[in-house]
Amino acid sequence: MEVIMKKMETNFRRYSTEIFWIFFLIVLSPALIATVMYQNTTFEGSGQMATGKVLGERVQNTTEEYLEGRDNNITIPEAESEVLGRETQNLTAKEARGQSITAPDIGLKNASFARLTNVSNTSYANEHNRIHSDKLLDGLVASGFEKVSCISRFDSYLYRKASPHKPSQYLISKLRNYEDLHRKCGVHTKAYKRTMVKLVRSKNHNAGTVCKYLVWTPVNGLGNRMISMAAAFLYALVTDRVLLVEFQSDMVDLFCEPFPNSTWILPKDFPFRNKYAHIETYQNMLKKDKGNGSKEIVPSVMHLNMQHTFNDPKKLFHCNHSQDLLQQVSLLILQSDQYFVPSLFMTPSFNPELNKMFLKKDTVFHHLGRYLFHPSNEAWGLISRFYQTYLANADERIGLQIRVFRPDHTPHQRVMELLLSCTLKNKLLPELDKQNFITSISKNQTLKVVLLASLYRVYGDNLRTMYLSEPTVTGEMIGVCQPSHEEHQKFHDNRHNMMAWTEIYLLSMSDTLVTTSLSTFGYVAQGLGGLKPWLLYRIVGNETHNPACERDISMEPCFHIPPKYNCEGKAMEHLGLLYPHMRKCVDYSSGIKLINDSN
Ligand SMILES: *[C@@H]1O[C@H](CO)[C@@H](O)[C@H](O)[C@H]1NC(C)=O
Ligand SMILES: *[C@@H]1O[C@H](CO)[C@@H](O)[C@H](O)[C@H]1NC(C)=O
Ligand SMILES: *[C@@H]1O[C@H](CO)[C@@H](O)[C@H](O)[C@H]1NC(C)=O
Ligand SMILES: *[C@@H]1O[C@H](CO)[C@@H](O)[C@H](O)[C@H]1NC(C)=O
Ligand SMILES: *[C@@H]1O[C@H](CO)[C@@H](O)[C@H](O)[C@H]1NC(C)=O
Ligand SMILES: *[C@@H]1O[C@H](CO)[C@@H](O)[C@H](O)[C@H]1NC(C)=O
Ligand SMILES: *[C@@H]1O[C@H](CO)[C@@H](O)[C@H](O)[C@H]1NC(C)=O
Ligand SMILES: *[C@@H]1O[C@H](CO)[C@@H](O)[C@H](O)[C@H]1NC(C)=O
Ligand SMILES: *[C@@H]1O[C@H](CO)[C@@H](O)[C@H](O)[C@H]1NC(C)=O
Ligand SMILES: *[C@@H]1O[C@H](CO)[C@@H](O)[C@H](O)[C@H]1NC(C)=O
Ligand SMILES: *[C@@H]1O[C@H](CO)[C@@H](O)[C@H](O)[C@H]1NC(C)=O
Repeated sequence: MEVIMKKMETNFRRYSTEIFWIFFLIVLSPALIATVMYQNTTFEGSGQMATGKVLGERVQNTTEEYLEGRDNNITIPEAESEVLGRETQNLTAKEARGQSITAPDIGLKNASFARLTNVSNTSYANEHNRIHSDKLLDGLVASGFEKVSCISRFDSYLYRKASPHKPSQYLISKLRNYEDLHRKCGVHTKAYKRTMVKLVRSKNHNAGTVCKYLVWTPVNGLGNRMISMAAAFLYALVTDRVLLVEFQSDMVDLFCEPFPNSTWILPKDFPFRNKYAHIETYQNMLKKDKGNGSKEIVPSVMHLNMQHTFNDPKKLFHCNHSQDLLQQVSLLILQSDQYFVPSLFMTPSFNPELNKMFLKKDTVFHHLGRYLFHPSNEAWGLISRFYQTYLANADERIGLQIRVFRPDHTPHQRVMELLLSCTLKNKLLPELDKQNFITSISKNQTLKVVLLASLYRVYGDNLRTMYLSEPTVTGEMIGVCQPSHEEHQKFHDNRHNMMAWTEIYLLSMSDTLVTTSLSTFGYVAQGLGGLKPWLLYRIVGNETHNPACERDISMEPCFHIPPKYNCEGKAMEHLGLLYPHMRKCVDYSSGIKLINDSN
């Protein structure tokens, strides 16, 4: 059952729209368009973990050159007075590629900014200075980044309400220390090169290096990847490892570099790349382990495959003993599509530190996600233009994410009924006024805009038609926009991931969010936005369900396959429930998630 659900959840993406196509056609080079189209037909439905293939390679090369170039060119923080309006000057050719499809400084100057955030132009100036002093995202983001390479890092606050959740000083200090470590041990450093040489020589013996690494490798769809990257980063934070990510061509150019003056991209010449099958595994180490923590059994390079192994009685990842062994490994290559953060909270040796880092336990992804995932200039161009065109003028924004499981067996009509039942009963959207043909001017004419994310355009079309054909009882105007409707899932395609990321981010900017149960796409949006979504029941086939949706208990992603054995190897039906701040997920009762209050 679990496996089936996982299968259904995996590899789902969002795709492009005519609007985006126009942007692509105008701004991207013909060569890249050819690439994208070709990928479109070639990669559809291909198996998991296909590598970049011929077509993605060019794009990847460009990016790595760019990253290396920037890394060598030490960046100087911009003077505050120069932060605005300087962006179009002195771009390198490579940067200009990103810049050309990005609204320079997003065009949100004084007036529109004031309208968006409801502040006067005086406070705008103050606000701007305050934000650009050294307090990006309440101190989550380090000062001293240059703006031009990642406009979203500086400008996303213009689009969102300030988060009511403040990171703890301890978390901030952990992040700053991590950044120092990453600079000291990151790729291009002498320490990195020395360590790799040493590890190649002694990968099966314990080598005891100063710098330790965690390499994240991609599995499944973008939502799964993002939640597992956030979990991997937290694991790196509590184990003093440097996180490097292996982005194949389908993930290039989605995100900015999160760590100042260094890169998190696994270099092309990483000596173990594509050799993971020949590396000692966690499973194998535990097999050899007789419980005495012997160094002889610990290799210096290890493959940690944790896609579905958390609840294996023999692989007690959440126990001190396993972590003591793992801590001796210099290079861990992680494969996971899970948000295994609750497992880290269950680990006795990590728990005290995690509690200090996160005073409110439901903010882990909210903080780490906003710290790690800044849309690249290319993604930000798409996001900010869509926002300004369709969402900026709304009084209220409602994100609706509709994922249809087994679409061939699930009539659109049933899904539409579910959607309306959820939104109308919970007063997220108003009822239609069947008595009148026109909206009375005296009524309160607020504009609510629905951002609809789905593979199918029928939902957006139906909802739009419905609210245009009759007035609402409240007098509110309901607009409906849908960035994309690709009709089919497609895999291993950079453009599709770009659209998926764009939609996730736009959903995260909503005031109210409705997502489909079990969708990791929705988890990322709710976490970034700090929103507790309404979870639509996951209907499969010609069925109905009442209630149609339920409010989530926390903005954290759900960990779908939590451990089911305690550290003595005893089976526990719901091990997580023994811990404070953990509950069964509303959308998946075998899963577990962190919540704020402990009762
Ligand atoms: C990418 O770079 C590698 C070496 O860095 C080179 O062998 C390959 O030809 C390049 N690919 C393209 C498409 O430029
Ligand atoms: C910095 O970048 C410029 C333009 O890409 C390049 O000409 C210059 O050599 C770089 N400087 C260093 C120190 O790498
Ligand atoms: C841009 O480059 C010109 C000359 O190349 C230089 O005089 C100017 O100071 C640079 N501007 C900025 C903002 O770096
Ligand atoms: C916005 O600021 C510019 C100068 O930065 C000014 O010319 C313009 O009039 C301002 N617009 C409004 C509406 O205040
Ligand atoms: C700002 O918000 C206040 C109440 O929150 C409202 O009264 C005022 O009209 C708003 N101003 C603008 C310019 O939207
Ligand atoms: C604020 O903007 C208004 C018009 O947009 C202008 O008249 C006023 O002088 C501005 N105030 C400040 C302090 O800039
Ligand atoms: C990057 O390095 C430069 C020079 O060492 C430094 O001035 C700058 O503050 C650093 N940037 C960050 C974000 O640490
Ligand atoms: C620990 O276990 C290993 C592997 O079984 C064994 O070779 C070693 O002698 C043991 N060490 C101790 C101190 O018991
Ligand atoms: C796990 O290790 C921590 C210290 O690393 C220790 O405080 C704790 O008591 C240990 N817990 C168990 C159950 O062994
Ligand atoms: C106007 O809309 C707001 C928010 O939707 C609501 O609280 C208020 O009661 C409405 N006023 C009227 C007269 O309908
Ligand atoms: C779905 O069920 C309804 C009755 O509940 C029936 O009228 C309809 O024909 C069914 N549709 C499909 C496609 O099976």
